[in-house]
Amino acid sequence: MFQTLAKVVEKRILTDQIILVTLRSEELTNNVKPGQFVNVRVSETCYPYLRRPFSYCDVERDTFKLMFTIYGQGTKMLANASIGSKFDVIGPLGNGFNLDDDFENAIFVGGGLGIAPFPFFTRVLKNKKNIYTYIGARTKEFVVTYGLQNYKIATDDGSIGFNGNVVELLKNDLDKKFFNGKIKIFGCGPTPMLRALKQLSEEYDLICEVSTEEAMACGFGICQGCPIELSDSSGFKLVCKDGPVFNVKEIKL
Ligand SMILES: Cc1cc2nc3c(=O)[nH]c(=O)nc-3n(C[C@H](O)[C@H](O)[C@H](O)COP(=O)(O)OP(=O)(O)OC[C@H]3O[C@@H](n4cnc5c(N)ncnc54)[C@H](O)[C@@H]3O)c2cc1C
Ligand code: FES
Repeated sequence: MFQTLAKVVEKRILTDQIILVTLRSEELTNNVKPGQFVNVRVSETCYPYLRRPFSYCDVERDTFKLMFTIYGQGTKMLANASIGSKFDVIGPLGNGFNLDDDFENAIFVGGGLGIAPFPFFTRVLKNKKNIYTYIGARTKEFVVTYGLQNYKIATDDGSIGFNGNVVELLKNDLDKKFFNGKIKIFGCGPTPMLRALKQLSEEYDLICEVSTEEAMACGFGICQGCPIELSDSSGFKLVCKDGPVFNVKEIKL
């Protein structure tokens, strides 16, 4: 884990509200795993006080990309950053997705900006596993396919792709026995989507890991501010340090 200044080298506007920022730093790009994240100080002043966490969206040589929605003050500041400006960033943080399980088909399921870690994951697994990507969004205006491959889209209003939620779309394909070989599901998105994935993975007896989200301050286990309850009610783990990726069986959703 490093704390260092990362320089903005590129900025792309993907949709009205979704921005892709590329930063350069050797330290923050060494030995990163898909699913890990950085904690960014978005301002040099005390406002906003807390850093903002973002998944590694992609990593290439000494650069990394962050994909984010302009949500509040912090993301607005990051979106307004000029090329050449520098941000104080801590990373790589957390535990990423586990690639050691026995599977041939990687199924990525992303809800909204939950697709953020999957461009990097696609790069890492390309030519090693079969990749199937399921993108869920409210309407076609919120669909982002940047860096993804072999994808299907579900929208809540049916404005593009399947009319319904992304887990229903995946369930249809599982019922049709669309996949050949062992499957592992990787999910990232809002909690109701992760809950539905947990039910689906139990129903079909599939391994499933999900990236969870919790408001964070330190990002590395000091402040105790990001607990998540374990499914056997034995206690809590920290999303920043023990996660953000968990086997879905392990946590209460
Ligand atoms: C591990 C992880 C990875 C993430 N990856 C992405 C990603 O790739 N792309 C993406 O778009 N979003 C991602 N998020 C969500 C992202 O961090 C939030 O969208 C962002 O912090 C919003 O900040 P803001 O200043 O724009 O919004 P604000 O409107 O300022 O924040 C919303 C509210 O939350 C409070 N808040 C903000 N940050 C914190 C904090 N750190 N601790 C406690 N309260 C806080 C604010 O005070 C405010 O009340 C991720 C979150 C986590 C935990
Ligand atoms: S954010 Fe501080 S312990 Fe997780």
